Amino acid sequence: MARTPLMAGNWKMHKDHLEAIQLVQQLVYHLDADDYQRTEIVVIPPFTALRSIQTLIDGDRLDIGLGAQNCHYEAAGAYTGEISPPMLAKLAVRYVVCGHSERRHVFGEDNETVNRKVRAVLAHGMRPILCVGETDEQREAGDAERIVGDQLQAGLEGVDDAQATEVVIAYEPVWAIGTGKTATPTDANDMCAFVRGGLAERFGEDVAQQIRVQYGGSVKPGNVAELMGRSDIDGALVGGASLTADDFAAICRYHRL
Ligand code: 13P
Repeated sequence: MARTPLMAGNWKMHKDHLEAIQLVQQLVYHLDADDYQRTEIVVIPPFTALRSIQTLIDGDRLDIGLGAQNCHYEAAGAYTGEISPPMLAKLAVRYVVCGHSERRHVFGEDNETVNRKVRAVLAHGMRPILCVGETDEQREAGDAERIVGDQLQAGLEGVDDAQATEVVIAYEPVWAIGTGKTATPTDANDMCAFVRGGLAERFGEDVAQQIRVQYGGSVKPGNVAELMGRSDIDGALVGGASLTADDFAAICRYHRL
């Protein structure tokens, strides 16, 4: 079964809500019905811009999805400064990034916390984008597959077969994020295939074939077509290049490059 490619722009801590509206308006100006048909296109702005973009998507009936960069795993409670899954679901958020390497490394999220978030997102009818990826030192030490395999299995603990096809995995080698260094298409595809193998062990081959595995790390218009030409790469989680409408639109239209 063919997997619909998923292009998601993770804006990280960029764009206030007015800049966010402008960026989405510029982005859709470059896209047409054929693009939406071929590719699922998602923007993942900071929390403060979710409501304004949701209103824009609704009002103009835009064919793009909304994502959030993080959430807490509890539905409500005394967690000052946190945002819950039901709050996001109420804003028609479709995807929530769980365990981005910046959350793991800068904010100390471990596999168990990431797993709680994955389960909470699924429990509230949204789809987690579970991020996995090794650091430079781990790769140099020959540990990349072990690290990625552990993050994958721990992140999916308690997820059942019926929920599994809602999950997206993003393979983002830490050394390729924001550095301009991209994994070679072959290395990226090999690790995405390794991830799919892990999914097959966990959920069986049929389910694994339906789960989308993205690559992330310095994806840009100049390298996206080659990455997308590989067998196990089903989309991209894009940071820097998603902040410019021209570049992100070109990435979403990779089939024309
Ligand atoms: P860059 O595309 O800026 O390397 O960021 C990748 C990323 O972390 C997306 O989540």
